[in-house]
Amino acid sequence: MVLNTLRNLRAALPQALGFARPGEAPVSLSAKPPRAADGDVLLETVGLTKTYAGADSELPVLGGIDLKVRAGEVVALLGKSGSGKSTLLRCLAGLVPPSSGTVSYRDTPLTGANPGTAMVFQTFALLPWLTVQQNVELGLEARAVPADQRSDAARQAIDLIGLDGFESAYPKELSGGMRQRVGFARALVVEPDVLMMDEPFSALDVLTAENLRGELMELWESGQFPTRAIVLVTHNIEEAVLMADRIVVLGSRPYGTIRETIEVGLDRPRDRNAPAFEELIDRVYRIMTGRTKETRIPGRPEGTDLDKRTPANTPLPTASVDGLSGLAEMVAHRGGRCDLADLADDLGLEVDDVLPLVDALDLLGFAKISDDDLVLTDRGTTFAGADVQQSKTIFATATMNVPLVKLITSSLHQNPDSTLRAGFFRDVLAHHYTSEQVTQQLETATDWGRYAELYSYDADPQEYRLDNGAGQAT
Ligand SMILES: Nc1ncnc2c1ncn2[C@@H]1O[C@H](COP(=O)(O)OP(=O)(O)OP(=O)(O)O)[C@@H](O)[C@H]1O
Ligand SMILES: [Mg+2]
Repeated sequence: MVLNTLRNLRAALPQALGFARPGEAPVSLSAKPPRAADGDVLLETVGLTKTYAGADSELPVLGGIDLKVRAGEVVALLGKSGSGKSTLLRCLAGLVPPSSGTVSYRDTPLTGANPGTAMVFQTFALLPWLTVQQNVELGLEARAVPADQRSDAARQAIDLIGLDGFESAYPKELSGGMRQRVGFARALVVEPDVLMMDEPFSALDVLTAENLRGELMELWESGQFPTRAIVLVTHNIEEAVLMADRIVVLGSRPYGTIRETIEVGLDRPRDRNAPAFEELIDRVYRIMTGRTKETRIPGRPEGTDLDKRTPANTPLPTASVDGLSGLAEMVAHRGGRCDLADLADDLGLEVDDVLPLVDALDLLGFAKISDDDLVLTDRGTTFAGADVQQSKTIFATATMNVPLVKLITSSLHQNPDSTLRAGFFRDVLAHHYTSEQVTQQLETATDWGRYAELYSYDADPQEYRLDNGAGQAT
């Protein structure tokens, strides 16, 4: 069983790394195209959309993505969890086909794996029974490179990325940072035009990640780097500002679109304490937290229902009542207003940890983003200072702005025995979300509705029931 899994991994890895699919002609290193001049377009998407099959309909993940990646630049794809960053990266690498639109490499539309890209993964994806040298050579196997050349090229890549002396080590003997260096070497050994990285530092401890980022950018700047462009997926704003020339912010309401593109324009190496660096961090925070106009759902005529919040266009953030109350109290302690970047920093949190709570406060009308600051509204200030009973009452009123909570409450009112199976709401939501998202949203709606004493939820028959006296809140 385990052996089969490992065999499958062995078979799938070259493709996952961005090389030829089974049945496709291998791409020889000697057939590499001429070096692209700075500014040449290497990757381009036009009108790219991606949908995945849901329980009973297609779920849009990416919509209308027009993107160019040029030689000489580092592009960061930045967005919250679920905004479609990895999906876009995989489309660019030709690992998944778009549902509509095109992806081109050097002006040629892709029909399979992109011959000009190689991928570095968050989880390293090394084969445990191969040495460092063999893992790196794996990157060349699918490219019809003779064995003797493979070992020379692998040694060079190992040298370049600081793994000298570790050639015969096995992954289990290495630290996380060293394992990821193998991941880099394995991608760089094929000298791809574009190095693709999907959250490559997020599984590493803070210092190791910082060190590896620094070394990578030094190499990129030094001109020794064998690739002509880098596409980095990240949810870490600071990482994007530190590394990228251009930051493409993906929004996720109701599916991934390019919310804004930011030219970074700071000299390298970048000083995190420079005012211009901090200003840019604040600006990107603002873009990521700012509520934009709801975007159009594919297939629906323009303008339909879009000014109205519905469970389809207003997903609930993953935020517990305790979490959002805690944040409201913290902001209240700081005078009702605080810089979001500073707050996250002080708490030692990343953007992904804070944004759902900020979204929740915004959705409930407890706070607004103004400039770079999170500012409590009057209702939010009262909520933060209220005792439990008052806070429940305020929360119950506020949840009437929350479409899913409102839907559950009003559906229960319309049902003669005031109960409804969770499956009913699952089915309704399944038209718009993946089953994982449906579960997450119902968990939030359950937590919020229970706290507001609008309805109770019994996990055994998986049933919602109107709370006694909840009638006023519809
Ligand atoms: N193979 C798949 N089948 C169905 N749905 C998928 C598939 N891959 C991704 N999705 C869904 O598409 C959406 C975008 O996923 P994706 O992994 O691209 O987001 P992401 O921005 O990389 O998120 P994260 O920061 O959590 O890695 C998510 O809702 C996810 O559940
Ligand atoms: Mg991802």
